[in-house]
Amino acid sequence: MWYFVVPEVVFGEDALSRLAELKGKSAFIVTDKNIVNLGFIDKVKEQLSQAGIKSNVFDEVEPDPSLQTVRKGVVLMNQYQPDWIVAVGGGSVMDAAKSMRVEYERPDIKAEEINPFISDLGLGTKTKLICIPTTSGTGAEVTFAVVLTDTADQRKLGLINCEILSDIAIVDPAFTVAMPPQITSDTGMDALTHAVEGFSCTWKNDFTDGLCIRATQLIFQYLPRAVKNGQDMEAREKMHNAATVAGIGFGNSLAALAHATGHSLGAVFHTPHGRAVGLFLPYTIEFIGDAREELWTEIAYALKLEVPKGKKAASVLAQAIRDLSRNIKQPLSIKEAGIPSDKFNSSMEKLIDNTMADGSLIVSARVPNVAETEKFFRYAYEGKSIDF
Ligand SMILES: [Fe+2]
Repeated sequence: MWYFVVPEVVFGEDALSRLAELKGKSAFIVTDKNIVNLGFIDKVKEQLSQAGIKSNVFDEVEPDPSLQTVRKGVVLMNQYQPDWIVAVGGGSVMDAAKSMRVEYERPDIKAEEINPFISDLGLGTKTKLICIPTTSGTGAEVTFAVVLTDTADQRKLGLINCEILSDIAIVDPAFTVAMPPQITSDTGMDALTHAVEGFSCTWKNDFTDGLCIRATQLIFQYLPRAVKNGQDMEAREKMHNAATVAGIGFGNSLAALAHATGHSLGAVFHTPHGRAVGLFLPYTIEFIGDAREELWTEIAYALKLEVPKGKKAASVLAQAIRDLSRNIKQPLSIKEAGIPSDKFNSSMEKLIDNTMADGSLIVSARVPNVAETEKFFRYAYEGKSIDF
C-alpha cells in the first residue's frame, strides 16, 4: 500500500492573507530571532488579528533545533493552549514546530519517539499547524519528516510519521526577498537535489514524478536569477513554488545517495545542508549511471539538454548541474568547499560510517559498498567525475 499526502497549499502574492480567514482564538507562533528582526512576525500577527486571533511568539529556535528547545516551546504551548500553531522560518523552525505540536497534542508521546509505525497519532483535535517557509529549499512545509538534535547525547534524530504533516502551507514569496544570495543558492540546491533524487530513487512513483520534473525545470530556469537579484520577484516566486513542489515530490518518494553523503559531510564539517547535498548530486548521478539512464534521459529531455550520440544522459545531466552550480557560486568539490585535506583524510572513517547508517541510502538505485563509498568521497574531494 502506498499513499500520497499533501497539506492545503496557499501560494503566490498575498498568500499570507489566508491567515485572516482562519477561525480560532489564539495562535502560537514558532520562529527565530532573525525572522522577528526582519519584521515578518509583525505581518503575521497583523493578519491573525484581522481574524480575531491573539498570538504569542516563541522565537528561540536555533539552527539544527534540539529536543531541549522543543520541550521549552511545549511548556509555553501548554500554558497558552493555542488552537493554531504558526511556524515562520526555514526548515529548522518548521521541524521544531511540527515536533512541538506532537507533544502538545499527545503528551503521552515524546518527540524522539515519533516513528512511521504509530498509526493513530490523532493530531488536529487540539490545534492545527500552519507552516510559512522563509527559504526556498527544504520543503519542510509539506513533508512529514523532522530532524532534531539531542544535545545531551550529541546525536541527530530523523523522525517520520505521515500525520505530522502541516495542515496548511503558506508559500508567499514576500518572505524570501531578504534572503542573502548565498542562502538562496544553498537552499535552491537542496530543492534541486530533492527533485532529482525524488525522481530517481527506488521509491519514485507515478504521483511524484511529474512534480519532481517540473520542480527541476523551474529551478534550472529561475535559481540563477533569484541568486543574482533577490528583488527579482518572478524568480523568487517561481523558486518558492519549486521548493514546495519538490518537497511534495520527494516527501512522497524519498531522497537518496546525495542526501546520505551530504548529511554525512554536514555532520562532520558543518557544511550547510543544501550546499552539501548539491555538491554530491552530480557525483551521485554519475555513480548511479546506467541503473537509471532512462530517467536521466527524461530529465535531460525536460531540460532541453542535448545528449550527443555515444554520450550518456547521466554525464550530460551531471555536467549541466555542475554548470548551474558554478553559475551560482557553489563549490564543485569537497576541496572547493574549503575542507583541508588532512581533516578530510582523518575523518574518512566517520564519513563512511555516517553514510552507511543513513536511511536515505537504502532507496538509492545503486547502493555503494564501503570501498565504493570511500572512493566516492575521494573523487568528490578532488572534483573527479565518477568512473567506477
Ligand atoms: Fe534536503
